[in-house]
Amino acid sequence: MISSALPSPWIPTLLLLLLSLPIFFFFASHILPSPPPPISLPDELDDLTLFRRAAALESHPNHKPKSRLGSTNSKPKIAFLFLTNSDIQFAPLWEKFFNGSKSNRNLYTIYIHADPTVKTKFKSPGGVFSQDRLIPAKQTHRATATLISAERRLLANALLDDPSNAFFTLISQHCIPLHSFQFFYNTLFEASSHQVAEFRHLKYKSFIEIISKDPNLWDRYNARGKKMMLPEVPFDEFRVGSQFFTLTRRHALMVIQERRLWKKFMRPCLRSVACYPEEHYFPTFLSMEDPEGCSGYTLTNVNWTDSVNGHPYTYHPSELSPELIYKLRRSNFVQPYMFARKFTPDCLNPLMDMADDVIFRD
Ligand SMILES: *[C@@H]1O[C@H](CO)[C@@H](O)[C@H](O)[C@H]1NC(C)=O
Repeated sequence: MISSALPSPWIPTLLLLLLSLPIFFFFASHILPSPPPPISLPDELDDLTLFRRAAALESHPNHKPKSRLGSTNSKPKIAFLFLTNSDIQFAPLWEKFFNGSKSNRNLYTIYIHADPTVKTKFKSPGGVFSQDRLIPAKQTHRATATLISAERRLLANALLDDPSNAFFTLISQHCIPLHSFQFFYNTLFEASSHQVAEFRHLKYKSFIEIISKDPNLWDRYNARGKKMMLPEVPFDEFRVGSQFFTLTRRHALMVIQERRLWKKFMRPCLRSVACYPEEHYFPTFLSMEDPEGCSGYTLTNVNWTDSVNGHPYTYHPSELSPELIYKLRRSNFVQPYMFARKFTPDCLNPLMDMADDVIFRD
């Protein structure tokens, strides 16, 4: 008697709970920020086609640096990959960086990936950032793998475009140069200057930060859920590092041909606070495949002291001085820092005032 009467008061409660579930989810989906859309299949197929084309051309005998008559090999170039979702804030400073000397002209190439969906659309300021430097771009979202896609798109376009591109340097609209172009160029190529020309590329190293000890490592590894990265990426092979790298041609090619880890890294994160796929994918892959070929550090100085929401410290005009530039150049590695971020847009004029006497004097 008692036992059969007991459940009855629960039934209306349960029914009410069940009925309220859809209402709860409706409100939750409208109040909580919705997760960004995953990478669409057409976008993914577009990229695959591009990457295959770049990889196929690489092995083609005609896709070799053109040698000029009378001279030996043409000089290798540095490809600058500008990843932006606005104008390039410090374009005039970069213009000075590239055009500092006539002899720079054949030593660099520029590629721009500008998010076509943002309100503050990229407007070409002309000069080195002319319209024809834009590559076919797609939407990018923070805390998604779309930034990896954009970076791989830049690498593939630069590989395809010019066989003389030997290094690939990623730059954002918030970056500034800390040295002259010539200084950067000599730094990258000097390490191999005593090598026989044909074998030089074997000695080039990529400058990419690779960190295996970090208090956030476990969180970042599990950003897509526990065990989601297995079996492709065991925790002890997971690495993090700065987004801003300089890759050798060999590594750029390896990265655009990579499929195995990408399948995991492209998956959406469950928690965006631990989700910086572009800072994880490149260091993890290159440290698995070729740790010896990587410096393990970046050439771009970012100040992470007191960072907020994953944004680094941003410098204001009142802080700018020759001393700051000298301080930002200083590193604990063989090479000094070559670039730095972030700076507010109104830093442009004080930076231009310092350009000739401080920044590009090395
Ligand atoms: C880095 O940022 C902190 C503020 O968060 C500042 O006190 C410090 O001077 C900065 N470091 C450099 C090298 O500018």
